[in-house]
Amino acid sequence: MKKTENQMLVIFGASGDLTARKLIPAILNLAQGGHLPNNFVVLGASRSEWTDEQFRKSVITESRHLGDELKNNHKKLISDFCNRLFYHELGSDQDADYGPLKKRIDELNKTYKTDNNYIFYLSVPPSAHELISKNLHEQNLDDESDGWKRLIVEKPFGYSLETAKNLNNILQQYFKESQIFRIDHYLGKETVQNLLVTRFANSIFEPLWNRNYIHHVEITNAESGGVEKRGGYYDKSGALRDMFQSHLLQIVALVIMEPPLSADAEEIRNEKLKALKSLRLMTDPETLHKSTIRAQYVSSVIDGKKVKGYREEEDVDLNSMTETYAAIKFYVDNWRWADVPFYVRTAKRMPTKVTEVVIHFKTPHHQIFKDSGMNSKDNKLIIRIQPDEGVLIKFGVKVPGQGFKVERANLDFYYSSLVENHVMEAYERLLLDAMQGDATLYARADEVEAAWAFVDPILEYWKNSDAKMYGYSAGVWGPKNADDLIEGLGMWRNPSENLADDPGFCVIC
Ligand code: BG6
Repeated sequence: MKKTENQMLVIFGASGDLTARKLIPAILNLAQGGHLPNNFVVLGASRSEWTDEQFRKSVITESRHLGDELKNNHKKLISDFCNRLFYHELGSDQDADYGPLKKRIDELNKTYKTDNNYIFYLSVPPSAHELISKNLHEQNLDDESDGWKRLIVEKPFGYSLETAKNLNNILQQYFKESQIFRIDHYLGKETVQNLLVTRFANSIFEPLWNRNYIHHVEITNAESGGVEKRGGYYDKSGALRDMFQSHLLQIVALVIMEPPLSADAEEIRNEKLKALKSLRLMTDPETLHKSTIRAQYVSSVIDGKKVKGYREEEDVDLNSMTETYAAIKFYVDNWRWADVPFYVRTAKRMPTKVTEVVIHFKTPHHQIFKDSGMNSKDNKLIIRIQPDEGVLIKFGVKVPGQGFKVERANLDFYYSSLVENHVMEAYERLLLDAMQGDATLYARADEVEAAWAFVDPILEYWKNSDAKMYGYSAGVWGPKNADDLIEGLGMWRNPSENLADDPGFCVIC
């Protein structure tokens, strides 16, 4: 097992939603699992006028994000943890001098013996990244001569290729690339990592994992929720920037990458980069027109309740042209994937929350059971990322009786059957990795830029052409023409909440 050295976690944006909702619960779970080092403190920093006590109340004792079970069953753990939680007010001045912050870090480091090892977690809008990294650098807080220093950066990582490059340049001016950890919480999901294991730890899948046997690949990321309280952010972002450029292209990279030489962080990231660079850029309007669909949800009634349309959501422009649904068809220009279409879609306000990868295999090249109805029942491998996490193989079996009637059967594996294992939450896993200096599941600068290079022309086309913005009623599987992209192949697989339930049935939750 890797060692977790003594250290201090400094969270910028400590009074924000992410700290209470994700970061502190993740650290508490790590404490509960015995993963934290002996000497460990958290220092929250932000502009809110809080004391240590107020911070502790807000993120722990009065937090609505921590289950009562945790609070009641682990009183000693919680009170010990609270004593290791501190807060530093940064002041309202944008250019605030980090001298006082440095002083506080030094004091805590001395008292709690954190060995000068610091993680700085930037849970702040991108506009603040430059200032914080510059200020830290000016206080020598990037200097690793007496202990390591790491910087974790939250998404959105840029708004376009140009802004992502600028941000990389800025961060790399003050920290070395090896110190920068760009977080993409999908990479922390156990099932996303399982994509690598499914492919590279089994000899039954990899020989088939290419254009000779795979007909097309479909990836669906659906959310039943709308934009909730994040209308202000989302309206400037949209589905393509918010989900596709980051989480979904990371999944695509894991599906299409070549086998790395080893499980070493740089080997895996090198292969992911090559994979992202092999996505065929779509630049001409005709291809973009045929290969992309954007849409927005409009108001409807779900389970007897009226649901707002996107343009009626808080902080969303009444005439907004921001997509809440994006579906993209594309190709991968390399030896393995030539001519295999990829279909990827993401959306808010769908019938259910689900993320899955579906590998559709080709029908056998010589069919002896042509009249059996097998043609329409191709083999599928479904990797369910969430919920009901697992893997499902659909294959043909003979229906008992005379003749050769073929039916499709399911072979399934569910993560929930591994009851003895605690499956770490994404943030828990990623934080632990960063604490141990393992960057395998963090995106490198060049990967992020390659993903933007693919997305930029689509955004440009949507912005500057007469590309239609379709509407779909909240609670349905996208606009009426959603299947147009899948020409000749029928329709998207509209998954249900449960892995093995066949399309056609879905739960509206
Ligand atoms: C975030 C997006 O990165 O991921 C959100 O900004 C989205 O808009 C969320 O809802 C989805 O994450 P998950 O883990 O719930 O699928």
